[in-house]
Amino acid sequence: MTRWFPRAAYSRLALVLAAVACTAAVPPTVSAAPAAYRDSSLPVAYRVDDLMRRMSLRDKIGQMTQAERSAADSNAAAAAGIGSILSGGGSAPSPNTAQAWADMYDTYQRAAIATPLGIPIIYGVDAVHGHNNVHGATIFPHNIGLGATGDPELVERIGRATAEEIAGTGIDWDFAPCLCVARDDRWGRTYESFGETPERPAAMASVVSGLQGTSLDGPASVLATAKHYVGDGGTTGGDDQGNTEVSEQELRAVHLPPFQAAIERGVGSVMISFSSWNGVKMHANDYLINGLLKGELGFTGFVVSDWQAIDQLDGQEGFTAEEVRTSINAGLDMIMVPYDYQKFMDLLRAEVEAGRVPMARIDDANRRILTKKFELGLFERPFADRSFTGTIGSPEHRETAREAVRESLVLLKNDGNVLPLAKDGGKIFVAGKNADDIGNQSGGWTISWQGSSGPITPGTTIRQGIQQAVSPGTEVTYERNGYGIDNSYRAAIAVVGETPYAEGAGDRPGGLGLDDEDKAMLARLEKSGVPVIVLTVAGRPLDIAAELPAWSALVAAWLPGTEGAGVADVLFGDHGPTGTLPMTWMAGTDQQPINDGDGQRPLFPFGYGLSY
Ligand code: GLC
Repeated sequence: MTRWFPRAAYSRLALVLAAVACTAAVPPTVSAAPAAYRDSSLPVAYRVDDLMRRMSLRDKIGQMTQAERSAADSNAAAAAGIGSILSGGGSAPSPNTAQAWADMYDTYQRAAIATPLGIPIIYGVDAVHGHNNVHGATIFPHNIGLGATGDPELVERIGRATAEEIAGTGIDWDFAPCLCVARDDRWGRTYESFGETPERPAAMASVVSGLQGTSLDGPASVLATAKHYVGDGGTTGGDDQGNTEVSEQELRAVHLPPFQAAIERGVGSVMISFSSWNGVKMHANDYLINGLLKGELGFTGFVVSDWQAIDQLDGQEGFTAEEVRTSINAGLDMIMVPYDYQKFMDLLRAEVEAGRVPMARIDDANRRILTKKFELGLFERPFADRSFTGTIGSPEHRETAREAVRESLVLLKNDGNVLPLAKDGGKIFVAGKNADDIGNQSGGWTISWQGSSGPITPGTTIRQGIQQAVSPGTEVTYERNGYGIDNSYRAAIAVVGETPYAEGAGDRPGGLGLDDEDKAMLARLEKSGVPVIVLTVAGRPLDIAAELPAWSALVAAWLPGTEGAGVADVLFGDHGPTGTLPMTWMAGTDQQPINDGDGQRPLFPFGYGLSY
């Protein structure tokens, strides 16, 4: 039987259908109000929820994926829905100029915001002592020198200057500071540590406030990263990416406080360490990431892996579904893949669809990541702030760097008060492979990942600083190997130490002594009878006890960066030395690891430093 609707019913139905048709016919841009997540007047949490409701699983997994710029150009990144791009050490556009960086960044953002949901990318770099990938940027002293300054306020200013140079290239995320507590100087990353006890690294977490500013959406604010969580500086033998074999009590007492300090300062991200704790890879450590970092410490930012670090979990090349599952379930929110990003996304999707990675974990990771993107103001201002591009390598920033160089110098010996040197008259001899080399005095993570010798970026060498400091009538002779020295000179300045390295390439399990070139050069100087003033330019204390008696003075200059004139400021007395040792100075490599309070007798104790 046919049930006929009364006429009135049809008219109501017709009205409803017409209304639907009307809505459907009108393009969404006209009828739909802007999506709530695009409304910057709304609370961030509300915007995150609104955006996540609109995201597919593919969208969400994309936000958890970080690819290297060389593996995914702007179109590939947008097509794949990748949420983050990084430049690995030295990975720069060509030409390597601030403008080219900003143009590259903007190209990625234009592609990202043109996607249906328009979620901006977040772009990370290792600006660990200035915006060190960029040619012409100010290169500040590496952390070991900043630790020697004992000056958190200065370090915060360095963070602000670095943030301005980073922002001027568009980049919005800095994989810094390294808050490692370096316990064995044979470790290749000792120079990335502010000190061997937790106090100085915790105090120097002030750089987080410099980088992030008073609010993440403030001018030139960039997201900071506390790394590498946790215990990277405590591995047995100083083996980079090795095994930190300590009790939980020692891990908490020695290695954790700098991360607590960074969290108290609102650090927006944490990078997990390659290393292991008592045989368990940190990237698989649910207790230390989910339990301690996110639970007990209440870290609300997001957690990023290190470079291909999840590949290491099973000890085999490449990564597997199990390694993806294990790291994500342990609490990692974003994976630095950096090449096989599609494989990562496919594997993670399969793990979620199989129920082995809960959707709640995916949502938690997205909430953390998207919250920072909203807080940074990326949805409102996705492009480079070119008003800061001119700050890159600016005189003001270089003056701050020169101030840091001065404050980082530690005077360890000064027989007969040979220092400060007079500026006036006579002849001064300068020698050593590190006296006139911007690359050597800057160290690793400078223009390239490993750094390199030579005039790699604009700056002032130590020798040039000496030349600028002395009076016109004073003759300065530089000869790298010390040839030509004789007793007509009133002093000889020998700049010895290490050539650039980064990470494991800098591990020195075999010893921390001077190289043959330095020893031969020193012998030539010492034979002349001229007072020899030695500067070490190195990423750590060196094993020099045997050579020390022949020297009149010794100054640790660490890795000063581009503003080498800061060394002359102290050598000639414009500023007195104020630095103190952030690391105990061994009497011999056989003492390693040697640290404050361990009962050993060092050459110079932690905290030591002379003044004029
Ligand atoms: C490196 C380092 C880490 C850096 C990352 C990205 O291997 O361990 O400090 O932030 O990769 O370059």
